[in-house]
Amino acid sequence: MKVTVVGAGNVGATCADVLAYREIANEVVLVDIKEGFAEGKALDIWQKAPINLYDTRTVGVTNDYSKTAGSDVVVITSGLPRKPGMTRDDLISTNAGIVQSVTENIVKHSPDAIIIVVSNPLDVMTYAAHITSKLPRTRVMGMAGILDTARYRAFLAEELNVSPKDIQAVLMGGHGDTMVPLPRYTTVGGIPVTELISEDKLNAIVDRTKNGGGELVKLMGTSAWYAPGSAAAQMVEAIVRDQRRVFPVCVKLEGEYGIDGVYLGVPVILGKNGIEKIIELQLNEDEKQLLETSRGHVKEVMDALDNMSAKA
Ligand code: LMR
Repeated sequence: MKVTVVGAGNVGATCADVLAYREIANEVVLVDIKEGFAEGKALDIWQKAPINLYDTRTVGVTNDYSKTAGSDVVVITSGLPRKPGMTRDDLISTNAGIVQSVTENIVKHSPDAIIIVVSNPLDVMTYAAHITSKLPRTRVMGMAGILDTARYRAFLAEELNVSPKDIQAVLMGGHGDTMVPLPRYTTVGGIPVTELISEDKLNAIVDRTKNGGGELVKLMGTSAWYAPGSAAAQMVEAIVRDQRRVFPVCVKLEGEYGIDGVYLGVPVILGKNGIEKIIELQLNEDEKQLLETSRGHVKEVMDALDNMSAKA
């Protein structure tokens, strides 16, 4: 299997590293526009192979998409990260053009690839990549739900003093403050989380999850990379190994949850064809309302992108 990661910054390089050391692909191509940058990162990952014992070949290229030809999966991490004081939506004007041009190059050289978008604002960049690629919606998706759920699970594990491995959760909606963690679907070793934690503490964890990316931007002056890069690699693994894992993934909704034409995180089955199935949960009225707020927000940003494209 051949996987391309576009963008050799922190997120892209972390993703490439996980793909290599976990031998998720035989070949990983790392692409960047900065001369020599991807080559250097790829060489560093390759030189780690004799230490960490893997044989995934890792290659870096400067903007040469011919080397990505025939990729099975492509992860797009290109674009600027946010700085303190910015929202993810503030990145739209810079990152939309980058994601569109990367997608054109990808599809030209790997028409059969499955595309995973990581660039922000995530849901709207997934929209940009999808319309540019003209691929079926099952093959263009965004990574956010695994990351947001991981944050939620990590905070719960810390609070309950249990292994994060035993926390199962699902989260829906856009990758922003309006995301919708679902306590009703959260379990700890099969036990409903609500039996183990007070409502106040759970609400505080839900709020911390919603602001999880911002918390890290404040601490580091730039956005996170270990968890986002690993989350994207986990999606690649589910696809290349046809694992049929159940993850929240950003995809264009076409009637599911009563929503049409908006890109939102929903639980899906991820396998060799990309999105094998969208799972429709029976949401209660409160959850429906939260999802509707999230839909409205993402749609506004999608409209902003459409207006920018119309003026260009
Ligand atoms: C994240 O959630 O870590 C990413 O979306 C980056 C960001 O700007 O928060």
